[in-house]
Amino acid sequence: MNVTKIAPSILSADFGCLEKEVASVVDAGCDWIHIDVMDGHFVPNITMGPLVVSALRRRFRCTLDVHLMIEKPESMIPSFVEAGADVITIHQEATHHPHRALQMIRSSGLRAGLAINPGTGLDSLPYLVGEMDLLLIMTVNPGFGGQTLIPATVSKVASARRQLVELGRGDVLIEVDGGINEQTIREVYEAGANVFVAGSAVFDHSDRTDAVARLTKALAM
Ligand code: DX5
Ligand code: ZN
Repeated sequence: MNVTKIAPSILSADFGCLEKEVASVVDAGCDWIHIDVMDGHFVPNITMGPLVVSALRRRFRCTLDVHLMIEKPESMIPSFVEAGADVITIHQEATHHPHRALQMIRSSGLRAGLAINPGTGLDSLPYLVGEMDLLLIMTVNPGFGGQTLIPATVSKVASARRQLVELGRGDVLIEVDGGINEQTIREVYEAGANVFVAGSAVFDHSDRTDAVARLTKALAM
């Protein structure tokens, strides 16, 4: 599969001028924006909700990639659909019913993603693969930007790609999230990832066009 996307995570952006921040990465050529939603329960941090998604929806046409790090995501899925999300990803660990949650997202006409933490295996992949468009493999423990990629997650990406192909779902996008930078992006790409979330590697640099170009170059090397 040839799809590769850099998805800047606005978690590392300046929330005081969010429109300008998002515009800077759209101008740099990104057409996916990663939105990290945290509830203070599933992860020890609180961020943003549907209001931010709908505000961005009004201003930008790019793909709004919503990563729900919240417990019992089913209850909030309708609000994020209404807000104008394009992709909604739920955590397997956050619900007793990941299958039903994925179905809810898809039946709303959106692309459905399943996220797994670094400590979670791929055992349920064969049972959930029929309901998903994207598999988000966390490459750090969720909750904060600016962490270091956990090396063991790279072989998980490779194993997930192999299994998806065997299951006849080589079309499922693999997204990697956490610690993606110029040094790490190539190895996760080689392992089979397509969508590369980058928070600090993009927003901690004042020149966003240069930051995105560096990641794209490292990916292609
Ligand atoms: C972490 C979030 C990530 C985060 C990545 O829980 O899901 O999307 O923004 O940040 P970096 O790229 O700085 O590791
Ligand atoms: Zn994320």
